[in-house]
Amino acid sequence: HGEAFPDAAPDTDFAEAQARQNAWDALKQVRQNLGNTYLPIVNGEPVNTIDRVDSVNPSNPEEVIGTIGLLSLEQGDRAIAAAKAALPAWRRTPASERAAILRKAGDLMERRRFHLCAWMMLEVGKPLRECDAEVTEAIDFCRYYAEQMEAIDRGYNFDVAGETDRYHYQPRGITVVISPWNFPLAIPTGMTVASLVAGNCTLLKPAEVSSVIAAQIAEILVEAGIPPAVFQYVPCKGSTVGAHLVKHPDVNTIAFTGSQEVGCRIYADAAILQPGQKHLKRVIAEMGGKNGVIIDESADLDQAVAGVVQSAFGYSGQKCSACSRAIVLDAVYDTFVARLCEATRSLNVGPAEDPSTQVGPTIDATARDRIGEYIAKGKAEAQVLVEVPAPETGYFVGPIVFGEVKPEAAIAQEEIFGPVLAVIRARDFDEALAIANGTNYALTGGLYSRTPSHIERAKAEFEVGNLYINRGITGAIVSRQPFGGFKLSGVGSKAGGPDYVLQFLEPRTITENV
Ligand code: SER
Repeated sequence: HGEAFPDAAPDTDFAEAQARQNAWDALKQVRQNLGNTYLPIVNGEPVNTIDRVDSVNPSNPEEVIGTIGLLSLEQGDRAIAAAKAALPAWRRTPASERAAILRKAGDLMERRRFHLCAWMMLEVGKPLRECDAEVTEAIDFCRYYAEQMEAIDRGYNFDVAGETDRYHYQPRGITVVISPWNFPLAIPTGMTVASLVAGNCTLLKPAEVSSVIAAQIAEILVEAGIPPAVFQYVPCKGSTVGAHLVKHPDVNTIAFTGSQEVGCRIYADAAILQPGQKHLKRVIAEMGGKNGVIIDESADLDQAVAGVVQSAFGYSGQKCSACSRAIVLDAVYDTFVARLCEATRSLNVGPAEDPSTQVGPTIDATARDRIGEYIAKGKAEAQVLVEVPAPETGYFVGPIVFGEVKPEAAIAQEEIFGPVLAVIRARDFDEALAIANGTNYALTGGLYSRTPSHIERAKAEFEVGNLYINRGITGAIVSRQPFGGFKLSGVGSKAGGPDYVLQFLEPRTITENV
């Protein structure tokens, strides 16, 4: 049961010359606004900070996008105190009013679509089309969670004769959102607005390298009417101030998306009862993946090659949903690999803001070097099938495909978060499924097949949160493909799905003898 969400926003049709023109005009305008300083916003006011950091364009690190002020521990405590003071009024605000703020934020994003795209192209090196889809996702999160909250707010009536039994939800309290740089608009927007619409005061701590885009989110929420201290923009150093916020006794919920290592740390830290803390914290953590796509002997190889290339190398493989393992049945291995290599070789690697670019840079020097270490390991444990050259300036890594990779090899087991694809040969479908399930993760997975029995078995046995059959495995759409995994891929309900907002709420039952 259930029905598709009717208010979904469409992506831009860039076949239209006007749309392309609008996007490039916005890029020019944004380029004239680079280098500003973005300070944390505590209790509705920008606060001066001692620590600052520059956010740069990964396609050309000489270009500074903006300077970010980093919140101190003491300012963090002030932000939590302000959130605590603002909570009683916000939780009393009717859900419909809170939802109206989200809808307004969605409309503002729609109006600023190309400017938001430009900020993303420049700050995180994401090509235009993918930025556009991300703006759509952010808008959809606003509208969908608004609608969800209004439905949830109706509660349940379990009355019997002589007794009313009412079941309803109340906000949990204060939420800290810790968001990643790879979907720098959609993911922080989704986590933040879900928490806000549920009546929680919410602090957004974005990834350092995408804090300028997060500042745009803050600006939009303020313009949409979010009260001061109900939402606070708190860029800070994750390992110190971020960790302090997670451990703060007045925090009730932590919504995190990022690496498995940091997610596990937050989960552990949040479990420790702090002096003065009178509740247990809830952690929602979306973590990594080592996502596999199985290609069987009946697959349409045109479809499979296009889907694997897009899923593996879109945004340089820096999506938790990305395909990092192609598991190919022996019967089609050689044919598939030959075509995969041709398709990979034809990819244009270059600056994200260049219209011909299909694969942009990686996020920063640390990422580029870490990916480089995995590539070196891969060269020692498998065959290089194709390695695409990449520009020297900027944090580029050329897409690379390894063949005859052993399922237990490091490049087949560990999340690399870069444009590195391991192709693994499987004897038959049983072995392919076992290989696919043979990692610590369970986020996305795919199957290319025209064999009904294989498709049925994958549905039942392929252990992933999001399984895609005969299509690419990235780009989940809000309310159509609720997104998230299990095992070490995360804990909590799916983003853009019917259970997501409930995680920010506490259910209550009130029984009255009448
Ligand atoms: N939701 C994104 C995708 O599906 C990943 O975060 O690609």
